[in-house]
Amino acid sequence: MKRNLFPIRKGAFVLTVAAALSTLPSQAQSSGADVYKAKCQMCHGADLKGNTPGGRMTHAQPLDTPEVIKKSDANLIATTKNGKNKMPAFAAKLSDAQITSVIAYIRALQKK
Ligand code: HEC
Repeated sequence: MKRNLFPIRKGAFVLTVAAALSTLPSQAQSSGADVYKAKCQMCHGADLKGNTPGGRMTHAQPLDTPEVIKKSDANLIATTKNGKNKMPAFAAKLSDAQITSVIAYIRALQKK
């Protein structure tokens, strides 16, 4: 009867990411760098390459490719707000100002 004391941990990582996303205070962060580190880096990586456990799990492409660099800010802002495939939607979690500043931060990283 008491055999399943330790349930299967499949998906524990996904839950960890989801918990991190939902518990971080979104309104307290102001700078694009802070927003990126708190909300984006676990998938997209500090270097935009997406070479993180979250990035590999969700198939996040690098954000520093010529294809992404030539997309407009409006396009990237729309993807951040609305999500795309496994990319979560942030419209309800971040203000427009936070999204604009996090895209500006990604632009700065793309130039590195
Ligand atoms: C849970 C993992 C995850 C998190 C967290 C995440 N992303 Fe993504 N992101 C993805 C994936 C996966 C894609 C690729 C979507 C596709 O095209 O299939 C993506 C794509 C994008 C794109 C589109 C790139 C293109 O090709 O047009 C932008 C811009 C982006 N993410 C910005 C952000 C920003 C900004 C944040 C933080 C506010 C963030 N992402 C957080 C997984 C994530």
